[in-house]
Amino acid sequence: MSYLTFALTKGRLADETMKMFERIGITCEEMRDKQSRKLIFINEEKKLRFFLAKGPDVPTYVEYGAADIGVTGKDIILEEGRRLYEVMDLGFGRCRMCVCGPESARQYLASNQLIRVATKYPNIAKDYFFNKRHQTVDIIKLNGSIELAPIVGLSEVIVDIVETGSTLRENGLGVLEEVCPLSARMVVNQVSMKMEQDRIRALIDMLRASQGTLL
Ligand code: PRP
Repeated sequence: MSYLTFALTKGRLADETMKMFERIGITCEEMRDKQSRKLIFINEEKKLRFFLAKGPDVPTYVEYGAADIGVTGKDIILEEGRRLYEVMDLGFGRCRMCVCGPESARQYLASNQLIRVATKYPNIAKDYFFNKRHQTVDIIKLNGSIELAPIVGLSEVIVDIVETGSTLRENGLGVLEEVCPLSARMVVNQVSMKMEQDRIRALIDMLRASQGTLL
């Protein structure tokens, strides 16, 4: 039997993912050592292989078949637009993609003005403003601390992830519109879904059953 390979998103999502696997009896001892810089972990008994990657790279590994299965956020799946199957909402990492800004920016949205939108997610922002709102905007790509943009005058609004809302509040900003809800998702390579159908389906069924017991 060949290894079934998982690309996990390094950090909190990988920790949550391993907790979820543990509930259905899939463990990986060597992954528990937080000091380790190791990137690949193996469960020899179940022929599973896990590796840790940066979130935006997970869909890439899965599309090219370097991983059969990936776990990452819906934000990244939407932004990357890779060819893969999204098979399951894992229910953790819940947050929202929102248009945010100072209250004074609400009028620019209401009157469909040509505004500047700073974001780490240019594809999601374009889709929202151009296709859903039919509003022409300038998209400015940033790499982090997006909340700075409207404060220092780089943009009128931002499109960003809101979890607790405290980053916005502490910077005098708020949610102006919701783009979509987000959470961690399981994605599968399109060829693996056919070639490893039985193993992948069995895994999904077990995870669904264990989710059911949590509700
Ligand atoms: C994310 C996001 C917001 C913040 C939202 O940033 O971009 O800034 O978390 O969380 P909150 O609503 O609970 O305050 P992250 O910490 O991932 O870092 P970044 O600013 O570098 O993107």
